[in-house]
Amino acid sequence: MIINTVKLINFRNHSSYSLDCQKNVTLILGSNGWGKTSILEAIYILTRGKSFRATDKDIIKRGTDFYRIELEYNNGELIIATFDGKNKTFTALDKKTRRLPTKQKYPVILFLPSDLNLVDHSPGRRRDYFDHIYSQLDASYSTSLSRYNKALKQRNELLKTESVTLDSLFSWNLLLAQYGAELHTKRKSYTAEINQRLTSTYRSIAQNQDEVELIYSSDASSSESSYLRTLEQNFPRDSILGHTSFGVHRDDYQFLFNHQSADNSASRGETRSVILALKFIEADLIYEKLGLKPIILLDDVFSELDETRRRCLIENFKNHQVIITSVESIE
Ligand SMILES: Nc1ncnc2c1ncn2[C@@H]1O[C@H](COP(=O)(O)OP(=O)(O)OP(=O)(O)O)[C@@H](O)[C@H]1O
Ligand SMILES: [Mg+2]
Repeated sequence: MIINTVKLINFRNHSSYSLDCQKNVTLILGSNGWGKTSILEAIYILTRGKSFRATDKDIIKRGTDFYRIELEYNNGELIIATFDGKNKTFTALDKKTRRLPTKQKYPVILFLPSDLNLVDHSPGRRRDYFDHIYSQLDASYSTSLSRYNKALKQRNELLKTESVTLDSLFSWNLLLAQYGAELHTKRKSYTAEINQRLTSTYRSIAQNQDEVELIYSSDASSSESSYLRTLEQNFPRDSILGHTSFGVHRDDYQFLFNHQSADNSASRGETRSVILALKFIEADLIYEKLGLKPIILLDDVFSELDETRRRCLIENFKNHQVIITSVESIE
């Protein structure tokens, strides 16, 4: 599907703004602070359900008390989101809901300048990055992840109390073992799918013969019973620490270039090529699994890429709808 128009009212610095984007490639040009990323943010909320960078309260234009955004697809489907300072409402097909219904979600590939530093980010940000990819491929991944996070929060709260016992944690341990083992299995398998394509995609961008591998590193387990056992064994330690020291919330991902960790050997150009490769693979996997061509949102990344990588990006996404923001004009 293609987005025809996007309209913003009281959204960040925009009082009223409308974007026509029927073309395959739409360029949003504006100086720093003009409100470019905000437009992508609105599109993201209307396609994925929530912002990639803030809560709704931060988004309402200062001095006003609501925002309203709307998006029309080329099949006439209209999605509206409003936020009145307390409640967010989505309207799609004349139905009002608090969350964007899964059926109304549409896959997007968001490319932010900060993605280019993925290799140097904290484990938490790397986890978020891959969670985001896997959640788009598989809605049940996203459900398991939010259930896991809720159970983890509850368990950690209990661990901070004086009266905590192994018995009082039992139901939380069960939930963490169930969802944790499931997430572990899926992370392993989706990482393997990425790896099947990573080196060849990377080589086509970097024009060399290097080998690249994504490593999923986790001390967790795919077996629910062994996961549960470790949680129980760790109880004395966790009750002293006041948090859960074992589980998939501590997972990380690393890149290997020619079998060496990218942390200390990869150049800026190499890490840029690998992120580009990941974006291409993400789009291919979405198309294969969901049968949908994701919309590509490129936020200011062109200025960070050289001519070859820019061309590669445009060439690879030529059959997608692409919306680009930039400070300077690009040919
Ligand atoms: N809630 C808000 N109300 C009013 N203005 C806001 C609000 N939140 C952010 N802004 C301002 O809106 C402007 C647009 O932000 P945005 O990030 O979209 O700009 P941008 O064009 O992407 O800038 P850059 O080129 O620096 O990335 C900024 O000046 C920001 O300070
Ligand atoms: Mg910006």
